[in-house]
Amino acid sequence: MANSAYDPSKDFEEILKNEFSEGLKQDAETMGSKSGVHGERSEMNFNIKPEELESYLNKYVIGQSDAIEVIATKVCTHFNRMKIETRLTEEERIIGNIKSNILLIGPTGVGKTYIVKLIAKKIGVPFIKADATKFSETGYVGGDVEDLVRDLVHEADGDIAKAEYGIIYLDEIDKIAASGQLNGPDVSRSGVQRNLLKLMEEAEVDLKTPHDLASQVEAAMEAQRTGKVKRQKINTRNILFIVSGAFGGLNDIIKKRLNMQSIGFEKTASVAADMQDLLKKAKTEDLMNYGFESEFVGRLPVYVVLNELDVEGLYKILKNKFSSVVMGKKLDFRAYDIDLSFTDEALRILAEKAHAEKTGARGLLSVFEKTLIKFEKTLPSTEIKKLEVNRELIDSPDAVLKKLLLTDSIKSFQKNFLLVHGIFLEFDQSALDIIQNRALEHRTSIKGLCEEMFHDYHHGIKLMGLESFRITEEAVNDPDGYLERYIKNNYKKKS
Ligand SMILES: Nc1ncnc2c1ncn2[C@@H]1O[C@H](COP(=O)(O)OP(=O)(O)OP(=O)(O)O)[C@@H](O)[C@H]1O
Ligand SMILES: [Mg+2]
Repeated sequence: MANSAYDPSKDFEEILKNEFSEGLKQDAETMGSKSGVHGERSEMNFNIKPEELESYLNKYVIGQSDAIEVIATKVCTHFNRMKIETRLTEEERIIGNIKSNILLIGPTGVGKTYIVKLIAKKIGVPFIKADATKFSETGYVGGDVEDLVRDLVHEADGDIAKAEYGIIYLDEIDKIAASGQLNGPDVSRSGVQRNLLKLMEEAEVDLKTPHDLASQVEAAMEAQRTGKVKRQKINTRNILFIVSGAFGGLNDIIKKRLNMQSIGFEKTASVAADMQDLLKKAKTEDLMNYGFESEFVGRLPVYVVLNELDVEGLYKILKNKFSSVVMGKKLDFRAYDIDLSFTDEALRILAEKAHAEKTGARGLLSVFEKTLIKFEKTLPSTEIKKLEVNRELIDSPDAVLKKLLLTDSIKSFQKNFLLVHGIFLEFDQSALDIIQNRALEHRTSIKGLCEEMFHDYHHGIKLMGLESFRITEEAVNDPDGYLERYIKNNYKKKS
């Protein structure tokens, strides 16, 4: 099972390998060497416009066009602003430095990580993803969140200047809310928030952690050898932070606020409104009630709510030619030279089943696995080179697999018979049914059974000068008798 586990991100890498990364063409040399002093950075060669990034994302991501509109715009603006950074006056730089860090709110499997990964690829900036829970677990340790920035340098192959234009994506940010009803020490969660917000605005992070003795020594030796002291600090001013979470329970907080406001006024539809619409009404105060420090929320001026995916959305994901789910499964089978295809109806049924799992597009992956795992296990040892996934296969996989295997063993018997004796044996469906039942009954292989039943057939068939012979129900029930009668009739007809 471990080998067949399907990792969509692998595909993703594949799909995008050669296609993208044209957005940010950095001049590596100037970026690298001039970066010793802040403000001496070369201008960014960033050419993507919001609408271009938007349509690119819409090519891959289904059902999130509202969210994509905002994300694409803010990300583009963030990177385009860097182009003018060197031309700003000191005053403009200080006053106008409002970074558009982004908060994505949405349930599991609706495309949060997917969107951020696509953006990082398209723009070609270093990108790292981490879970905020990692920090709440370790408690109040100042150095922790700074590791994110160091990881970004690692991701940029040690190029600090490049890392300073990277994207840090923090998932499960809702888990560091210091909400009263959650367990765990709240002081640690607020502490993590405070440490993060420093980074999210502007901070200088040491490349080497003070307790990382090995790298300190390494740096000292390097300095001795080259006579140069390498730049040791990373500035986070231009690093874009995108944070996300499912924010379960946030809708109740919003609901409460809206209801309270509507006391004495006409009853609003807010109680009945579904979660999505409610979440879209989120305000800073709701996030604060959820357990975030106001300063933390303040560093996240852009909120985006992602939609849940309905059956139609899931179906569209499967139909999308860039869908990694269908492609991934096809590749799993192609690894064994098996051509996998899906009928349209099958994709619809799979989308319905995935929807019932309530895990967004992640449900698609598990439904595909569940549906196909037995085929993936069995078919590679057969001669079968084609598999069509249709309604019948989804509804009764065992029966379909049995039928396929029967056909396969008969084919292999036929092939062998033709090869050895030069005679093609054709089977009636009713004959096949009997053979299959008998093989099951006697727990023996179909091929072995056929070899036994038709052991002497080639003599008789050759005697009659035939090149092909039809195996009927009667032949299966009494192989020798049938052949004998057939030969007699044949002679009678001739004479
Ligand atoms: N809206 C979508 N359109 C197309 N594909 C999608 C969409 N949402 C998810 N997928 C597919 O499902 C996979 C998993 O989604 P993703 O990792 O983005 O989930 P998520 O929203 O980050 O969920 P989680 O909160 O569990 O991390 C993606 O790699 C992608 O293949
Ligand atoms: Mg995710």
